Amino acid sequence: PRVIAVIPAAGVGSRMQADRPKQYLTIAGKTILEHTLDALLAHCDIDRVVLAVSPDDAYFPTLELTSDERVSVVHGGEERADSVLNGIKALHGDEWALVHDAARPCVSQDDISALLNVINDSTVTGGILATPVRDTMKRAVSNQECSTSPANPSLSVVSHTESRANLWHALTPQLFPAPLLLNALKKGLSDGVEITDEASAMEYAGYKVGMVNGSPANIKITHPADLPLAEFYLHQKLK
Ligand code: CTP
Ligand code: MG
Repeated sequence: PRVIAVIPAAGVGSRMQADRPKQYLTIAGKTILEHTLDALLAHCDIDRVVLAVSPDDAYFPTLELTSDERVSVVHGGEERADSVLNGIKALHGDEWALVHDAARPCVSQDDISALLNVINDSTVTGGILATPVRDTMKRAVSNQECSTSPANPSLSVVSHTESRANLWHALTPQLFPAPLLLNALKKGLSDGVEITDEASAMEYAGYKVGMVNGSPANIKITHPADLPLAEFYLHQKLK
């Protein structure tokens, strides 16, 4: 089957607090978005890439990405799920959609290949890269019931320890049949449920989603401290 990558790249990067959306910051010789795009275009099983970009984005036109005929561009939306939905709408309908955050440039070819194997696994309807949680997980008491010290707004109080057994971090790419994902995203958005990744929409729609153990180096660049870390992983990849 044909596999089309959809890259949501329409975020503003508020947590990065940079002078531009984080996907346009340069690390290891090119912008984060270019690293991500090149990683997907380099995979021989990915036919095309659809980029969802903010309509009033001053940085995107300065890149020289659109010279590749396999790349097309759509407008992003209010939330990440809206951006992905716009990307999926640009597909013909019979493909598999491989959705991957612009902010994850360190994804490896091997992990993409491992995820693509779920296409041939009839026990699940698509799947995601994920990595097991490493730290002990604490649930905090909610802000209402907890009287935090006004002197220390960063202090939270432990309610209890969550079992780490069977707990995973969801990564991207996430791979689903495009028509099923299209309907699942529409349903999740119109029902007002929280759709923070494609799998959550597919789960809500009742599908069984596979998880493929991927590398924890496939970080989502979120905070300033992630930039040197991503740069380190990218240099490792280039070796
Ligand atoms: N994204 C998008 N459209 C949105 C919001 C996010 O396409 N309306 C994209 C981002 O560009 C990013 C990916 O979704 O590649 C993951 O989102 P996140 O890491 O949260 O990026 P931002 O929303 O840009 O960052 P922040 O939440 O800190 O503002
Ligand atoms: Mg965000």
